[in-house]
Amino acid sequence: MDEFKRKDFPYSRILSSMCTTPHPLAVKAHVKFITSNLGDPALFRGAKELEDRVIEMLGSFMHNPKARGYVTSGGTEANIQALRAFRNLKKLANPNVVVPESAHFSFDKAGDILGIEIRKARLDEDYRVDLSDVERLIDEKTVGIVGIAGTTSLGQIDPIEDLSKLALEKDVFLHVDSAFGGFVIPFLYPKLKFDFRLEGVCSITIDPHKMGMATIPAGCILFRDERFLKALAVKTPYLITEEQFSLTGTRPATGVASTYAVLKYLGFEWLKKVVKRCMDVTLYLVEEMERLGFERVIDPVMNVACFKTERATEIRDELYRRGWAVSVIENPRALRFVVMPHVTFRVIDEFISTLKDVLRNI
Ligand SMILES: Cc1ncc(COP(=O)(O)O)c(C=O)c1O
Repeated sequence: MDEFKRKDFPYSRILSSMCTTPHPLAVKAHVKFITSNLGDPALFRGAKELEDRVIEMLGSFMHNPKARGYVTSGGTEANIQALRAFRNLKKLANPNVVVPESAHFSFDKAGDILGIEIRKARLDEDYRVDLSDVERLIDEKTVGIVGIAGTTSLGQIDPIEDLSKLALEKDVFLHVDSAFGGFVIPFLYPKLKFDFRLEGVCSITIDPHKMGMATIPAGCILFRDERFLKALAVKTPYLITEEQFSLTGTRPATGVASTYAVLKYLGFEWLKKVVKRCMDVTLYLVEEMERLGFERVIDPVMNVACFKTERATEIRDELYRRGWAVSVIENPRALRFVVMPHVTFRVIDEFISTLKDVLRNI
């Protein structure tokens, strides 16, 4: 086992992931609930109670203590479930959903599984979704629209307030994918409304296993009210519990426990410090990259930074050979970095020194 484990990249060399090393307390809580199965909450009542508390804490964090939802396997399941609820409530033939071009590929999976056409709206010059294009793509078969609060590629935030107004005007549901940004925006931009404060927002993806410092797997789907969750219910005859809302049957309570540990014992103030530090390291990375002649794609909005270069793939591949993981985005062609809590100032110094050598040799 150790031999296999050694083949994994250590997090200290991963500059491309939205996951990180969880806090030891989160790991301890994870292990405590390793045998619990939330697929049958009547049997694992303590785990279920913890999940209810997590939903209440995250709902309140998103300004709706009455939000309903559950802890998912990640952002993908949360996004699928949001679109599934929208489709089931609207009951339209040949439904479609409008997402930004910058949306995570989980929406393509959702469209495929659910039989929903995924329409992609153009971005503006700042890589936010173009509102007029969203409006153009909405028609009588549109069940919902999506805004991203923290895009996967750039960490950019769509104009959620405008999308909310548009959703109300057009009578379609609005889902906000803040799988990454949900644990970042409230700390960096507390006044920015992207959550249930906006009347049009019906559901939110927010993932504890990304910037929430919980263990994998721990995503979360939150709905404005019970109606959306009910639209996902199926009868479960052989269980004591009568119905189930989750996409998977058997599901772990480990992510629930580790999320609870982080939120309850470390707390939101601690997370805020973690996020602010990540942002400081991000700005340091930008300085160092610009010193090497790279140009940023946008001013970092959160702890994600991208730098234009036509040689992005070549650089990434050589870094990979030397044990470093960075990623590449297209449009514009750029190197992408996610500065998670394991990426310290020292890690950046070590990385920049390797990068200098790579640039001399390729
Ligand atoms: C904005 C956004 N949504 C959804 C996802 C999918 O999350 P997961 O990989 O946990 O399923 C990601 C993953 O990076 C993401 O960045």
